[in-house]
Amino acid sequence: ADLAAEPPAARLIPQPGVMARPHDSHKGRFGDVAVVGGAPGMGGAALLAASAALHAGAGRVFCALLGEPMPLVPGQPELMLRDWASLDLAAMAVACGCGGGDAVRAVLPRVLSTARALVLDADALNAVAADAALHPLLAARPARGWSTVLTPHPLEAARLLGAATQAVQADRLASAQALADRFRCVAVLKGSGTVVAAPGQVPWINPTGTAALATGGTGDVLAGLLAARLAAGQDAFEAAGQGVFLHGAAADRWPVGHSLTAGALAKALSPRASDQAGIR
Ligand code: APR
Ligand code: MG
Repeated sequence: ADLAAEPPAARLIPQPGVMARPHDSHKGRFGDVAVVGGAPGMGGAALLAASAALHAGAGRVFCALLGEPMPLVPGQPELMLRDWASLDLAAMAVACGCGGGDAVRAVLPRVLSTARALVLDADALNAVAADAALHPLLAARPARGWSTVLTPHPLEAARLLGAATQAVQADRLASAQALADRFRCVAVLKGSGTVVAAPGQVPWINPTGTAALATGGTGDVLAGLLAARLAAGQDAFEAAGQGVFLHGAAADRWPVGHSLTAGALAKALSPRASDQAGIR
């Protein structure tokens, strides 16, 4: 695959005014995000994604936890908790911290065949890798005008491609493109130099981000951020490029000598934080 010519896929870099809030806006304008995930012991993953979606500017964020029922999330009263079966997935869904077991397998067929825009992460990706019966549901989405973004780290990408992790890493551009073409989706191959690929597009390497991101939960934050941009109606390839750029830029701004936590990263995604970096 070729690297993008100069200027490097400029539309993937956030431009001033993207997702700006006009004076007469109401929350319905910025879209609903529904996060599905949080198997027993992994509620934090779903809550991090939901928090990131809120801080990224989503109008409303719903969360369906597959594990322990929780009436209210301490510290995140904006979140609305739902049983996944009653969730309106016409809006937007993410799958974070689903656990390797049956919970995510039960959820995925409905999610894939009803969510108009979708970010699949972590164990949702592992389930897709393990269950070929889900592949036609993924492949049917573009014809319906529905977008899908896959956000694998290298091991998850290797499972999806049926390859070794070293082979994925040896040619990250080709690996991301192979994922995009095979599953007819936007593929975000995470890690240092995250690659964003889509069918018929020149793959793009994100220039932002540091090793400060190598801490648990930062991938869940990215999934929530991307979901917020999709819910706002942004094109999926642009949403992915701009989302990984902003996620990395938040880490680039992190004060030297201070540890980054995923929860703090989610809060740093707010438009105001981007203002300070001169991104918007
Ligand atoms: N430089 C730049 N970015 C980095 C670096 C680095 N050195 N290291 C990590 N990142 C970024 C990645 O690009 C990605 O956006 O941090 C994020 C890490 O995401 P994940 O690998 O998904 O990590 P995490 O959120 O902790 O998820 C861990 O989810 O995917 C499952 O198996 C995984 O259960 C585990 C959990
Ligand atoms: Mg992850």
